[in-house]
Amino acid sequence: MYKIVKKELLTNNIYLMDILAPRVAKSALPGQFIIIRNTEKGERIPLTVADTNKENGTVTIVFQTVGKSTLELATFSVGDEVASFVGPLGRPSDLVLEDEEVLKNKKVVFIAGGVGTAPVYPQVKWMREHGYDCDVIMGARNKDLLIMEDLMRDVATNLYVCTDDGSYGFNGNVTKCLLDLVKNQGKEYNHAVAIGPMIMMKFACLTTKELGIPTIVSLNPIMVDGTGMCGACRVQVGDQVKFACVDGPEFDGFLVDFDQAMRRQRIYATEEGRAKLAYLEGKTHHGGCGNCGEGK
Ligand code: NAD
Ligand code: FES
Repeated sequence: MYKIVKKELLTNNIYLMDILAPRVAKSALPGQFIIIRNTEKGERIPLTVADTNKENGTVTIVFQTVGKSTLELATFSVGDEVASFVGPLGRPSDLVLEDEEVLKNKKVVFIAGGVGTAPVYPQVKWMREHGYDCDVIMGARNKDLLIMEDLMRDVATNLYVCTDDGSYGFNGNVTKCLLDLVKNQGKEYNHAVAIGPMIMMKFACLTTKELGIPTIVSLNPIMVDGTGMCGACRVQVGDQVKFACVDGPEFDGFLVDFDQAMRRQRIYATEEGRAKLAYLEGKTHHGGCGNCGEGK
């Protein structure tokens, strides 16, 4: 069992929690994720690690209440325990594995949309702790939906905040803000990391492609086991089929088929849709996820 030691409502329907999980806190690197289960038989919820504290043994998660399990998790209080907390899963961010000489020459811009701000934060924090500069663009639909602004300001070299309705910061979405920085303010970048809703990452990549800035995205398709067995998180990257949980979650944004990923996400939401995908895609499932009955 894993105890909740902090709970904060960041805005509207987005919560931050610190969970006592010393082994995960010790080994998690920026970019990796965990899978949490509220109760023994509960649904598995994949969430990117938003921060770790090795001394306290805590892992920070940020989640939006979108389905039954996240709504249920939001009812948990400080002192309550969740049944399982598995991780770190997935590959760490490319940046933290990058050669020092290469990284020194990268002019990095992070593009964070909405809840995607949470997974961007540990990467920016890591850059600061290791002495590398980076700019951050963070966007939300309006001022009330912005999260982690003060935390991000502490670690970013330059922070550019934007809102779609112009209620705070730059007036426009993250791609408009990036275009403004590069075309009107003389900013130069040679590496971008975009994390947020799938549609945002799609348009961020179209923009960075136009600007000639190689771009990494972090995908969060539907996941079940998180260990490469169920096939739920299948994505098309260039001419290859990848599984976001083990091959990602980070991929070259110029190669990701976002339209297919969004279509798949919609279809996967229903049982009929899952059956259709199994029929169309064949057996990607190797059994053992414990949820679907396959492989038993
Ligand atoms: P949102 O819809 O409020 O969008 C946040 C910001 O992204 C907008 O303010 C805008 O600046 C930008 N954006 C959105 N659509 C855009 C477009 N078409 N072109 C340019 N910019 C655009 O986002 P939200 O409600 O905070 O996000 C919810 C979604 O984010 C969920 O689907 C969730 O699964 C996903 N999410 C993804 C990750 C990840 O790791 N990729 C992490 C957390 C959440
Ligand atoms: Fe990736 Fe199952 S969640 S294969």
